[in-house]
Amino acid sequence: MSAKFSEIRRVTTHQLQAMKKAGEKISMLTAYDYSMAKIIDAAGIDVILVGDSASNVIAGNETTLPITLDHMIYHATSVVKAAKRALIVVDIPFGSYQGNSQEALRSSIRIMKESGAHSVKMEGGMEIKESIDRVLSAGVPVMGHLGLTPQSIYKFGTYTVRAKEQVEADKLIEDAIALEESGCFALVVEKVPASLTKKVSEKLNIPIIGIGAGNYADGQVLVMHDMLGINNEFNPRFLRRYADLHSSITNAVEGYVSDVKSGSFPNENESY
Ligand code: KIV
Repeated sequence: MSAKFSEIRRVTTHQLQAMKKAGEKISMLTAYDYSMAKIIDAAGIDVILVGDSASNVIAGNETTLPITLDHMIYHATSVVKAAKRALIVVDIPFGSYQGNSQEALRSSIRIMKESGAHSVKMEGGMEIKESIDRVLSAGVPVMGHLGLTPQSIYKFGTYTVRAKEQVEADKLIEDAIALEESGCFALVVEKVPASLTKKVSEKLNIPIIGIGAGNYADGQVLVMHDMLGINNEFNPRFLRRYADLHSSITNAVEGYVSDVKSGSFPNENESY
């Protein structure tokens, strides 16, 4: 992190745009609870996404579809209490904005009012533009999300790379331009070819945050449980693991079980 941006007391949407201009990459991770959000915030993460991936990694669902607006507000409220520096973005869950722009506005306002978060994220392009416009007009900053949009997994049928064909790539570029014109402050672009990310990033002034979208993005996002190796069953090519917490936790718990069974825990110093 450059000295300039590491001194920021609270990252804002405007500072993210300044970072893109200055050529400084933006770091973003998901978090869903107080303790982990506190650690990653203190470690210098720029943006914390309270992602609807909580549906997978916290609740154990196969997709992001089951998580509710109440669940998202619960997670966001815990993260907001912990994060002193990072900008906090909250996913509006499936079924809480697709109906119409009033529903999108109501959901966004609940998230902002009840959790204290700083912005919301919605998946989709032109088809949800009216909702994005309505939310933005109420003063709520919006992050877009294009490419592989997990809330539409049953439409796609697979989690494979999106926009490899020209028609889909052209639509993604048109959608990205429309979202920037609406006033989105940044876009997540998920699982698309790196060459397409390059084009989008060069065309837009707002930052493009990639996941499985190559190194031309203006920033990167990963799901915390994946990059820390808590979840060791998810191994896509784009994922770099920075820790093996699955093994660390397993070893720690096995040690504890063994010490309890043998009677060596607690010892005299650990007793009153
Ligand atoms: O919910 C989430 O974690 C996300 C990221 C994959 C970008 O939307």
